[in-house]
Amino acid sequence: MTTAKRIVISSDHADIELRKSIAKHAAGMGFDVTDIGPMTSESTHYPKHGEAAANVVAAGDADLGILLCGTGQGIMMAANKVKGIRCGVCSDTFSARMIREHNDANMLSIGARVIGDALAIEIVEAFLNAEFEGGRHATRVDMIKDIEA
Ligand code: RB5
Repeated sequence: MTTAKRIVISSDHADIELRKSIAKHAAGMGFDVTDIGPMTSESTHYPKHGEAAANVVAAGDADLGILLCGTGQGIMMAANKVKGIRCGVCSDTFSARMIREHNDANMLSIGARVIGDALAIEIVEAFLNAEFEGGRHATRVDMIKDIEA
């Protein structure tokens, strides 16, 4: 079980209902979830939501973040522009676990128009239940941090 406790979640307009379901599920798992919206399905722009959630994680106000857009790709790209963020798009549970265990990802992105809701929930569970393994993986994550610096 992860030591992470605080989660921030955001999306664009692609599927705010799935985002709310994920937020509720994560809360049911015992996480302290902050949903920063948007709260309506009005068309919006994924970069600003990816950046906003990433800033919460980068500031240390959340341990992990979850993002959704249509493909999961655009909002992931935006989040990864924020210093200290390592965000991956996942459409399977193995990758969701591995980006925590090996890459120390602090954000997960999901393509709401790519996968079904039930799989999305399982992916979130896999991500939230996993923990960074450190060791040789820390060396490699440090290399990523060096590129960023
Ligand atoms: C919005 O139509 C769509 O482009 C967005 O949700 C996302 O898929 C971008 O990467």
